[in-house]
Amino acid sequence: MKRIIELNINGDAYELLVSPNHTLLEVLRDKLGLMGTKRGCDLGACGACTVLVDGEAYLSCLMLAVDAAGRKITTIEGLAEGGDLHPLQRAFVDKGGLQCGFCTPGMILTAKAILDEEEHPTEAVIKKKMAGNLCRCTGYKKVVEAVMSVTEPAGKEG
Ligand code: FES
Ligand code: FES
Repeated sequence: MKRIIELNINGDAYELLVSPNHTLLEVLRDKLGLMGTKRGCDLGACGACTVLVDGEAYLSCLMLAVDAAGRKITTIEGLAEGGDLHPLQRAFVDKGGLQCGFCTPGMILTAKAILDEEEHPTEAVIKKKMAGNLCRCTGYKKVVEAVMSVTEPAGKEG
């Protein structure tokens, strides 16, 4: 039976009627039109649908919307502030960390969770923690370079 839940997404509160089997990904894209969260495999294998839930990276295709109720959800649409790209977004652009861009929202949100937990992770840690985010275009080298550039004090903008 459908029920009404409240979701906090990028600081905004939404009251939504959802089925118990609706995933967070379905609600974000199909009900709210937040298309920045990508549907790749829809079965937990590619990382394209990654969002932050209470600051941790989650695969929104594997999370039921009802389980996200009352938690703080951040999608890629919530990162830029006042028209300025988040430092990670800027780094991906500047370092050429994307081509088609399909994997990029998930990559950036996973990277944000990593950097929020540890300010200066090693390259090995970044590679390990981003292993679940697949890209069919870039080959990963520039992705890692982009994230590493944000960990360097001189490159960190906040
Ligand atoms: S769409 Fe969720 S992991 Fe691929
Ligand atoms: S940039 Fe195309 S899938 Fe990653």
